[in-house]
Amino acid sequence: EGEGSLRPKRLTEYIGQEKAKENLSVFIDAAKMRQEPLDHVLLHGPPGLGKTTLSGIIANEMGVHIRITSGPAIEKPGDLAALLTNLNENDILFVDEIHRLNRSVEEILYPAMEDFAIDIIIGKGPSANSIRLDLPRFTLIGATTRAGQLSAPLRDRFGVMLRLELYTPEELGQIVTRSAGILGVPIEAAGAAEIARRARGTPRIANRLLRRVRDFAQVRAGGVITQGVADQALTALEVDQLGLDAVDRRMLRSIIAHYAGGPVGLETLAATVGEEAVTLEDVYEPYLMQMGFLTRTPRGRCVTRLAYEHLGLPFHGQEQLKL
Ligand code: ADE
Repeated sequence: EGEGSLRPKRLTEYIGQEKAKENLSVFIDAAKMRQEPLDHVLLHGPPGLGKTTLSGIIANEMGVHIRITSGPAIEKPGDLAALLTNLNENDILFVDEIHRLNRSVEEILYPAMEDFAIDIIIGKGPSANSIRLDLPRFTLIGATTRAGQLSAPLRDRFGVMLRLELYTPEELGQIVTRSAGILGVPIEAAGAAEIARRARGTPRIANRLLRRVRDFAQVRAGGVITQGVADQALTALEVDQLGLDAVDRRMLRSIIAHYAGGPVGLETLAATVGEEAVTLEDVYEPYLMQMGFLTRTPRGRCVTRLAYEHLGLPFHGQEQLKL
C-alpha cells in the first residue's frame, strides 16, 4: 500500500494502459446492462503498474465490494471457502500473486469460478460424503507478474486477460503531476518530467520518487519541485539519468565483468549479484530490456553495446546476434 490516497477511483482518472481500459469499459458496461457479475479477469505484467488500483476501479465502476487477498495468504482450502461464502452477489475477490496459490486451494477455485459452487467433504473414510455448496455469483480478479507460471486449468478459467505494459515517460509525467496535486506540492512541468523519465516505466516508483524529491525540495529548495531539485534528489538516491538503480547497474556490470557481456544463465547471474532469480526476472529485466540494455537468448542474458555506452565502458567485439 503506502500510496493510498493517490489511487484513482474511476476508469477516466486512470492514466495510460489505453488498450486495457478500452476493453474493460466495454466488458463492465455489458455486465452492468445484463446485471451479471463481470467475467473473471487475469491482470498480468511487471510489479507496480497498478493491478490493485485497476481492480479497485473495476469494483467501483461495477458498484460492488472488493475483497483483497493474495495467493500466499490463502493457506488452506477452508480459508478460500470462508472468503467465497462471505461475498455478496456480484462482488469481486482480488487475489494478488495468484501464481502462488497452493494446489489444494487451486482445486477449490475451479468449480467456484466455473459453477459458483464448492464441494465440501463431510466425514472421513468409507462414510465420507461430498456436498455441494452454492456460492454467490462473483468475479475473481487474479493478478500475477508471471502469467506463464499459472497452471493451464486456472488460466483457462479467466474470460478476460489483460496485460499491463510499462508506462511511457509522458504518461508517468501526468501521473506525477496528478499525485503532486493531491499531495499539495508545487511542481514545475520540467520537474515532473525529470521524475517521470527516471521512474522505470512504473507508477509505484514514480510516486515513491515524488515523495522523496518533495523532501529535498522542502529542505533545500523552498518547497517547489523544479527540474534542478528533482535531478539533485534523484542523483542522491542513486537513480541515474535513465532511471537505473544500483541493482540494475550491478547486473549489467556483472555480466560485463564476469561473463564478457554474456550470455550468462539467469540463476548464475542471480548468484553473482546476490538477488533472487525471480526478482531479477520480474522486477529488473523488463525495464532493462525495454531500454535496449539487455537481451534474452536461449543461452542466457546478454548486455548490449548501448549498455556499455551508458555505463561509460569500452565496448570490444561485436554484439552477438543469436536467435
Ligand atoms: N497511480 C498508479 N497508477 C496510476 C494510473 N495508471 N493512473 C493514475 N494514477 C495512478
